[in-house]
This record gives sequence, C-alpha cells and structure tokens, in this order.
Amino acid sequence: MTLKNDLFLRAARGEQVERTPVWLMRQAGRILPEYREVRSRMGGFKELVENPEFACEVTIQPVDLLGVDAAIIFSDILVIPEAMGLPYQMVEKRGPWFDRTISSAADIDRLRVAEASDVQYTVDAVALTKKELNGRVPLIGFAGAPWTILSYMVEGSGSKTFSKAKKFLYTEPVLAHRLLEKITLSTINYLKGQIAAGADVVQVFDSWAGILSPEQYREFSLRYIARICDAISEVPVTVFAKGAFFAREDMGKLNCRTIGLDWNMDPAESRALIGPHMALQGNLDPCVLYADDATIVRHTEDMLRAFGPQRHIANLGHGIYPDIDPDKVRLFVNTVKAFRH
Ligand code: CP3
Repeated sequence: MTLKNDLFLRAARGEQVERTPVWLMRQAGRILPEYREVRSRMGGFKELVENPEFACEVTIQPVDLLGVDAAIIFSDILVIPEAMGLPYQMVEKRGPWFDRTISSAADIDRLRVAEASDVQYTVDAVALTKKELNGRVPLIGFAGAPWTILSYMVEGSGSKTFSKAKKFLYTEPVLAHRLLEKITLSTINYLKGQIAAGADVVQVFDSWAGILSPEQYREFSLRYIARICDAISEVPVTVFAKGAFFAREDMGKLNCRTIGLDWNMDPAESRALIGPHMALQGNLDPCVLYADDATIVRHTEDMLRAFGPQRHIANLGHGIYPDIDPDKVRLFVNTVKAFRH
C-alpha cells in the first residue's frame, strides 16, 4: 500500500522533503484524556497491550488528535522478557515489576529465544493498525535494546542507578553475554514479525544506555544493537540510545537509517560525529512543553534551524511526560509543520 504521508520515510532515506516530519516518543498513551478513557474501560495496562483492537485504537489516537506524521504501535519493551519466560506486571503509579529475576546460568538456560508468535497480540495489533490507518502515515514498530531489556530482567524493576544490572556486567560478563545473545535473537524475531505484519519503520529504544561507561557500552550494548541493525534490511531502522553521547561516532557506523538524539546532544556536533549519511531524530527537551506558548515556539524553531531542512525527523529528546498538556503538544507539532527553512 502506498502511503499518503511518507515524509518520515523520505527523511529517513535522505530524500527531499517539503517540510520536516514530526512525531513524539511515547505519544500513544500517557497524555491523552482519550487514552485514559479507553484504559478506564479496559482495566490494566497489560490488558490494553494484549488486546489488538484497543492497542490499535490508542495507536491511532495521536494521529487524529495531535496531527503527527507517524504512529507508533501501542505495546511495551517488556513484552520480550515475558515472551522469553520472565513475566512482568505493570504496577499502577510505580512501573514495571518482575516476580522472578535473572542472576544465574540456570536462570538464563531456562529462558527461551522468543518467536514473534510469542508476542502475537502485538503482531496482530500491528496488522490491524496498518489496515485501519489506511496509508495515512507510516506505522513504527519497536523493541528495547538488549542491554535495556537485560537491565530490567536482572534488576526486576525500574531503578535510578540500575546498579544491580551494572554489577552483573562486571561480575558475570560471560553470563551477561549469554543473556544478551538470547535477547538479541528474540528481538530480531520480534521486529521481523512486526515488519511482516506491516510496520514501515522500527525503532530500538536503549533507554539505559547512558548509565554504562563507554567501554561497557561498546561491549555490552552497541555490539548487539549492531547485530539487530545488520539483521533488518526490510525497513529503515532508528536507534535511540538515551545518554550515549560518548558513542555517537560509533553509532554513525551502524547499519541503520536514523539515530535518535536526546536533548543533551547538540545537533551540529552530533551531525559531525555521526556523519552526513544518516537521518537524525529529536531532540527538544520534553520539559520545554511546560513553558508558555512563545517559549515553545522559539525553542522548536531553534531546534529546526539547528538540524536543517533535510535528514531530520522532529521529536522530543525522550518520551513525553504524563502531565504535559495536549494543547502544548499540538503547538509543538503545528510549529514544526508550519516552519519552512
Ligand atoms: O511510544 C509510544 O507511545 C508507544 C508505546 C510505548 C510504551 N512504552 C507504552 C507504555 C513505548 C514505545 C514504550 C517503551 C518503553 N517502555 C521504554 C523505552 C522508552 C523510554 O521511555 O525510555 C521503557 C523503558 C519502558 C518500560 C516502562 N513501561 C516503564 C518504565 C513504564 C512505567 C512508567 C512510564 O513510563 O509510564 C511503562 C509503562 C507504560 N508503557 C505506559 C505506557 C503508555 C504507562 C502505562 C499507563 O499507566 O497507562
């Protein structure tokens, strides 16, 4: 099916665009009252993730209500640990929780390499959403990067430092590699399943990249992200590694189309480090959206000028925060859409 709005894909491939495409990480859920309404009818977060009709509905909401140039499938990165044999819960107001965690060779041996069919509900949600979108905008599939997934599997919950997960890398490097290998194979299967079901792009989220040292990052994260990029040639791949400012030059060598930047990464410096051949995605500080309208417009336009007219996909530097006013998001989206270089 041909897309009516393919700005995202053209920017990712480095083709000419009339204007910069825009979407927001974590746009599905979180901020829209319409999402909360669906969620209150449904019960828990997981019920929503596991129900393709509802996942489809909340995936399309931001396209209708915010006017973004791409949809991202409503799911979570933690479906992969569960598909491998380590179930999670999403505890209201506290976040993810695993009853069992990984600490030994036996724990890792018990895990299976997940197939896409182990996450059939998200694969089905992609297929349904692709059909319902009817070519309006591209659909983004996603997964967590192996290191970020390992960090939840070892830590068992969110953490400020992820010191238990980092300790595992220093004390059990052989086991860490064995676990990362299984996660990587599962992630490739899962992303390929989303692509076969209709995802036009896939993004890999390495949310905890920034807590590793540069050496650890190269050894325990980037290597596996590179394997994922090399395995996926069907659609453009975006890699977003939050806090990995020290790895930008290496990321320029990945076999992917787009690098996501957080708000600490200067656009011109990132372009110089990454190279001219990739698209850059980002990177407005999400907290700018708490400001008054004039401040939002000024920061958004400054960002657009800093990236320039081509090979840029406008976004925030991380996921949008839950208490941001949807009208401020619309202002951000409309400012990008109205801007001409
Ligand atoms: O971008 C999108 O809107 C698509 C859906 C999406 C969700 N999670 C839905 C969700 C995506 C892409 C994610 C990715 C994700 N999940 C990441 C990587 C991105 C990032 O922000 O760094 C991480 C680290 C997770 C793990 C996770 N899921 C946490 C820590 C939490 C609790 C806190 C939070 O972020 O809200 C979740 C829950 C979650 N995932 C919600 C949503 C809409 C909130 C659930 C709710 O209360 O309705």
